[in-house]
Amino acid sequence: MLVQFYNVSKIYPNGVKALDDISLKIERGEFIFLMGQSGAGKSSLIKMLFREELPTRGQIFVASRSIVRMKRGDVPKLRRNMGIVFQDFKLLESKTVAENIAFAMKVVGASGREIKKRVPEVIDMVGLNGKEQSFPTELSGGEQQRVGIARALANHPLMLIADEPTGIWIWKPPRALWNSFMISIAKEPQLLWPPMPGNWSNRLISALSPWIVGR
Ligand SMILES: Nc1ncnc2c1ncn2[C@@H]1O[C@H](COP(=O)(O)OP(=O)(O)OP(=O)(O)O)[C@@H](O)[C@H]1O
Ligand SMILES: [Mg+2]
Repeated sequence: MLVQFYNVSKIYPNGVKALDDISLKIERGEFIFLMGQSGAGKSSLIKMLFREELPTRGQIFVASRSIVRMKRGDVPKLRRNMGIVFQDFKLLESKTVAENIAFAMKVVGASGREIKKRVPEVIDMVGLNGKEQSFPTELSGGEQQRVGIARALANHPLMLIADEPTGIWIWKPPRALWNSFMISIAKEPQLLWPPMPGNWSNRLISALSPWIVGR
């Protein structure tokens, strides 16, 4: 089991109750869509996965480790296993597509040889072949977002997490990602159910109250 939430509630210091008694399990190889209206608590749930926020009550396990009990010093190690694509994914404007990805690998200490091998692999995974030498400003919004996905994938994360990615919908995740999972967040149901290729285990989690887990 990759992710387990047990009776998780999140109440922010200002008293806003973002999540109320949520329990869910996510297995390896699952492709999760998290859906719900604005303010339903989707981003709050995501942030707890990489310990940007702690739950007020309940327990969260990622790869069998308690996020709640984890020491502060172990948080960077947790995050290194996660490919996180933010809505405001910042690409380096002065670097090409390939250089942006290579840079993300360099900062975690990958060797030149690893980088040379991995960069074309992830560019291929997100379907950006031919755009290696393009600069971010020469790409469409969706293409830029796919660079963000490629960058998040570069260091072989255990899971890929994306909050409201539009680029996802034109991207066919390859079989190579079966051991990862993605949490993807959408507000609009029509954005939510692109027929995902292959045998992805697609699952929909609806952040309506109460949260509904469906398949
Ligand atoms: N740091 C914070 N402090 C106080 N309240 C917060 C904080 N972050 C979020 N909230 C509140 O918690 C609730 C859930 O917010 P969250 O960002 O998780 O929603 P969301 O489902 O991601 O919404 P959206 O679709 O608009 O991104 C909202 O009422 C929001 O105002
Ligand atoms: Mg959000």
